[in-house]
Amino acid sequence: MKVLVLNGPNLNLTGKREPEVYGTATLAEIEEKIRDLAGRIGVETDFHQSNHEGELVDWIHKAGEAYDAVVFNPGAYAHYSIAIRDAVASVPVPVVEVHMSNVHAREDFRRRLVIAPVSAGQITGLGVSSYLLGLRAAVELAGKRVRAERNGT
Ligand code: DQA
Repeated sequence: MKVLVLNGPNLNLTGKREPEVYGTATLAEIEEKIRDLAGRIGVETDFHQSNHEGELVDWIHKAGEAYDAVVFNPGAYAHYSIAIRDAVASVPVPVVEVHMSNVHAREDFRRRLVIAPVSAGQITGLGVSSYLLGLRAAVELAGKRVRAERNGT
């Protein structure tokens, strides 16, 4: 099983930007923890981060063909990118949306989540654990999908 871990804008600065909100672990350190869990549960992972909307759209399209599931932190695009929402709605694989901070407890504009209705589910507010739980959820959902396909349901 192959899972793409995709990160949107500004997440390359994780660990340095607003550490009181996002913590002090860098994206590389977070990816290491995800890779570690993936290894323990026998899943292959690839990582990609982009600050560009179209590039994230391209990666989601690619994931629809080359991966079994996606763990996706869309960053601020979660709140307004209809192009990314449409990309997520266009692919057959489960996309689990994750946020490190509790977006519901912050500014009002962060409560509007335009990708959430078409994502498989969301994990929000648990810091690095949002990604780790997101990976477990993605693997479970992808497994169910593969089994359903095999059974022709
Ligand atoms: C975020 C939350 C978003 O509102 C914000 O724009 C981010 C990070 C999070 O992981 O908590 O860039 O997705």
